[in-house]
Amino acid sequence: MFPSGTSSRPVSRLSVCFCGIVLASKCLLAAPATALDSQVDELLAQMTLDEKIGQMTQVDSGALTDRADVKKYFLGSVLSGGSSDPAAGNSPQAWLNLADEFQAQALQTRLKIPILYGIDAVHGHNNIDGAVIFPHHIGLGATHDPKLVQRAERVTAEEVAGTGIRWAFAPCLAVAQDERWGRTYESYGENPALVSKLGAAAVTGLQGKALSPDGSSVLACAKHFIGDGGTENGKDQGDTVCDEATLRKLYLPPYRAAIKAGAGSIMVSYSSWNGQKMHGNKYLLTDVLKNELGFKGFLVSDWAAIDQISKDYKSDVEQSVNAGLDMVMIPYGPDKKGNFVEFIDDLKALVAEGKVSQARIDDAVRRILRVKFAMGIFENTATDPKLTEAIGSAAHRAVARQCVSESLVLLKNEKHALPLAKNLKHLVVIGEAADDLGVQCGGWTIDWQGRKGPVTSGGTTILAGIRQAVSPETVVSFSADGSDVKGADAVIVVVGEAPYAEMKGDRHDLNLPAADLDLVAKARASGAPVVTILLSGRPLILNSALADSSAFVAAWLLGTEGQGVADVLFGDHKFTGKSPRTWPASNQHVRAGDETEKPLFAFGYGLAY
Ligand code: GLC
Repeated sequence: MFPSGTSSRPVSRLSVCFCGIVLASKCLLAAPATALDSQVDELLAQMTLDEKIGQMTQVDSGALTDRADVKKYFLGSVLSGGSSDPAAGNSPQAWLNLADEFQAQALQTRLKIPILYGIDAVHGHNNIDGAVIFPHHIGLGATHDPKLVQRAERVTAEEVAGTGIRWAFAPCLAVAQDERWGRTYESYGENPALVSKLGAAAVTGLQGKALSPDGSSVLACAKHFIGDGGTENGKDQGDTVCDEATLRKLYLPPYRAAIKAGAGSIMVSYSSWNGQKMHGNKYLLTDVLKNELGFKGFLVSDWAAIDQISKDYKSDVEQSVNAGLDMVMIPYGPDKKGNFVEFIDDLKALVAEGKVSQARIDDAVRRILRVKFAMGIFENTATDPKLTEAIGSAAHRAVARQCVSESLVLLKNEKHALPLAKNLKHLVVIGEAADDLGVQCGGWTIDWQGRKGPVTSGGTTILAGIRQAVSPETVVSFSADGSDVKGADAVIVVVGEAPYAEMKGDRHDLNLPAADLDLVAKARASGAPVVTILLSGRPLILNSALADSSAFVAAWLLGTEGQGVADVLFGDHKFTGKSPRTWPASNQHVRAGDETEKPLFAFGYGLAY
């Protein structure tokens, strides 16, 4: 988890000595691990209680209209939630300026402890205009390719670091069991081994082989511990009801893998285990995660999640910090209950009352400082302009394009309908989703919930990719409502879910909507081969759409690089994707492991050609 090295920070003679070792060795991994701890202990010994509690406080940028609050309250971290954008707009430069503003305040504090700025870079640097948007985890799960996932997260890390932000709230390690859950697409799949393999690769892609002063790496945040994807009926932030053996078998392996890969932070889940909120569960947060699994990084809460523990905020602070929470994510400014000033005042009072021990505070702050020292941000918080310039680059897009191609799962291919010839005379593409960047990106894109339409600069829709792929002689006509399929040599139908995120995506009815079934039926009525492409955050109940299609492709939520679809449709790349989820045959049996009905397709299903 931590290099055995140090980042030099001339706090005392001891540090100057280590600084010498570091400079001489030019390898931050050379000094013994205790060097890092010595630096942490030395700084900790100088800190007041206010400065320590400040490090445990993370505040949303939207609540910090007065940037000086970072300095005034010694804040350890700032985040930008799904829709907390800079007032100056959504460009990489606007984000870099915002991050620099907050950091400048932190570096004016007495001890000059830099902040860690966090953001939900969950499928690329998805809040930022022009950044490369990768397939969501469910599509990366279909690749079953850890090396590719690592490359994707490396690109993501470079684009995040290019905006002065050094902490990504990723990877999500949910082992989603119920497709009614709105966050199914944030999970690599239903299988713990697959999620462990890809989650560990993601941590390495974001952080490197270990936390280090590499300014192009970012802190990973394995989330949401534990059982977020196992709740009853897939209810977001609901209750995962199971015995401990099941919890350990299904949901714990990805955290073992992420800790082994060096994950420096873990985010706690809103959900409950057998009725107890995770944010107040000392057994799992401290006894299991920190003591049994040896997690040496720090635990951060979810967005105002401690507020859900009870009706009394001060009690929530006491329960969560004593359970093992090290940093608390607070979206609210002084105008709202549970705001960051209230948190700071309550925690200070709890220490004075002896209800939260000084040792617990010191353990939390030590964990946070150890990560900051290991990342070298005491020594350097500057952003390499080359990283900023490379945001959205062709090289980055090429990696995402490969992710798209490898994520596609071929569910049906009657009479070798695929691959299509590039020189067909007349190709008809129908369905508004064929030409909608927002739909193919899904939630967590520019805005928390995502939205339809041209949501971001750069990128290629599926239709645009098809147009680029075929010969100049081929006529490609687009009919959003499918009203014109006359004379088609083949019809490509694109159907799918409108963007959503978190609880807004909880659904009990997973049937493909009637309008989509009608669209596929119109295509079939043309008499030409029908290739149906489904853009969705989970398997949907396909009903007549499958029978009406000659070929059927699950494309998940593929991000900005839509030409990756054409690469496979026209045979430039083979289909290699394998479903990361069991595909239910009906709405009555949508939970993984439900053997009462034969699924339409099993976990791991995918045709090649
Ligand atoms: C959200 C999500 C979490 C995210 C956090 C910050 O509610 O549960 O995944 O990292 O808040 O946006």
